[in-house]
Amino acid sequence: MSFDEVTRLAQQKGFFFKSADSYPNSPAGFLDYGPLGVALRNNFVELWRRMVVKGDSMLEIDGSQILPKAVFEASGHLSNFTDPFVRCGKCGSVFRPDKLVEEKTGKGVAEKLTDGEYDSLMQESGVKCLKCGSKLSGTSRFNMMFRVGIGPLQDEAYLRPETCQSIFVDFPLLFKTQRVKLPVGIAQVGRSFRNEIAPRQGLLRMRELNQAEVEVFFNPKNTEDPKFERFANDTIPLRDPSGRESVVSVKEAIAQGDIPNRLVGHYLALLVRLYEAAGLRREMLRFRVLADEDRAFYSKSAYDLEAHLSVGWVELVACNYRGDYDLGRHSQASGTEFTVDDNGEKVLPHVFELSMGVDRTIYAILESSMKTDGDRRSLAFLPYLSPFKAGVFPLVNKDGLEEKARGIYEELRGALDVFYDDSGSIGRRYARADEIGVPFCITVDHDTLNDGTATIRSRDSRSQERVEVSSLADRLAQLSRYPNLPR
Ligand code: GLY
Repeated sequence: MSFDEVTRLAQQKGFFFKSADSYPNSPAGFLDYGPLGVALRNNFVELWRRMVVKGDSMLEIDGSQILPKAVFEASGHLSNFTDPFVRCGKCGSVFRPDKLVEEKTGKGVAEKLTDGEYDSLMQESGVKCLKCGSKLSGTSRFNMMFRVGIGPLQDEAYLRPETCQSIFVDFPLLFKTQRVKLPVGIAQVGRSFRNEIAPRQGLLRMRELNQAEVEVFFNPKNTEDPKFERFANDTIPLRDPSGRESVVSVKEAIAQGDIPNRLVGHYLALLVRLYEAAGLRREMLRFRVLADEDRAFYSKSAYDLEAHLSVGWVELVACNYRGDYDLGRHSQASGTEFTVDDNGEKVLPHVFELSMGVDRTIYAILESSMKTDGDRRSLAFLPYLSPFKAGVFPLVNKDGLEEKARGIYEELRGALDVFYDDSGSIGRRYARADEIGVPFCITVDHDTLNDGTATIRSRDSRSQERVEVSSLADRLAQLSRYPNLPR
């Protein structure tokens, strides 16, 4: 399924739309989630919360989206969070030179080139302005944070470009008030803002994006992870910077030196489990070990969890070993003590980060769920991710079936996400439900009036099961239950 087909279906069905679409020239990179998209995203975030946050006994916070300039001076974003851009000398269009070269050559471009190196690459690969076809040159830099002014004096502040800065800044307070011990994970889901230069890829590159981030704080002298044994034999797919690919158990990867320690191994394996539970096949996933020149400025080593999609390999989660970079910088800049007690030792914790792009994940779930059978399209969401768990349909709109079906719908809707549909043939209603990924349909027929049972039809197997009306809520809840937490 191509990116365009997935996007078209998702827009037709109201998963997401371009923001302010009724206005001409509204800027790219802003999308509004419609009702189905919100529900799908909420259900995925709940899966993440269960498997990662609760499964690992983490703390979850909800920090402010606007933070003062001082935070981003200390974090390094004011000086380092830049992207290269080039402006067409003829028509004024603006592009990212690395993306133009990548699209033209089909090959990746390293992140940390000089402006002159980008100009040379554009010249060598024959990149031209996408609008007017002119030659491009004169790469320069742009800070991607959105600046805002606080109060009438417009005190300088910024919309956060990553959710995790509040986690770092709040760390001493959280550690003290929540009475936790190292290692401890602190999680946050919410919006981040990046003034991307020329976003052209829908949910894959947004200026206002949803992230679900985890920062695991640990004593660098102790990476003997207490939960490691649960994950030791899980296999993880790795691609090293030379391009060598391997699929090995976490235990073996540590023994071979591909992964530095148990703590990192545990979290990489947990991510594979999470994405499998979201319906992405294991063969679609890999961790790309980043070369020095591809890592973010705060990262000492990095593993990007990537999914193989129609547009190529797409980064879904950046896993960064950030060392004590963030806590050290915030401690120094704010004059606050960020060290904590770890069994009598005073420690400035190190951080391993799992930074998930939620919108990209939603795209990956949509693309990997989409199936076609002749001209019938369906979205094979796992039931717990599906925006609706069931549709309730009367077989025909007569003989009291409509009233009976409506009554069942009214009973179920307090317990589950269900909808009612009596319009068109029953086959057409099944097809409409399949197109938005509804896993089960309840059909109310004449037998329902006689024996108090209804049919549950399964989207994927098309099999039918006869169930007492009084048991429908329990049966659907059982069929759409989230997976158990890892033990
Ligand atoms: N916190 C890492 C990132 O946003 O990419």
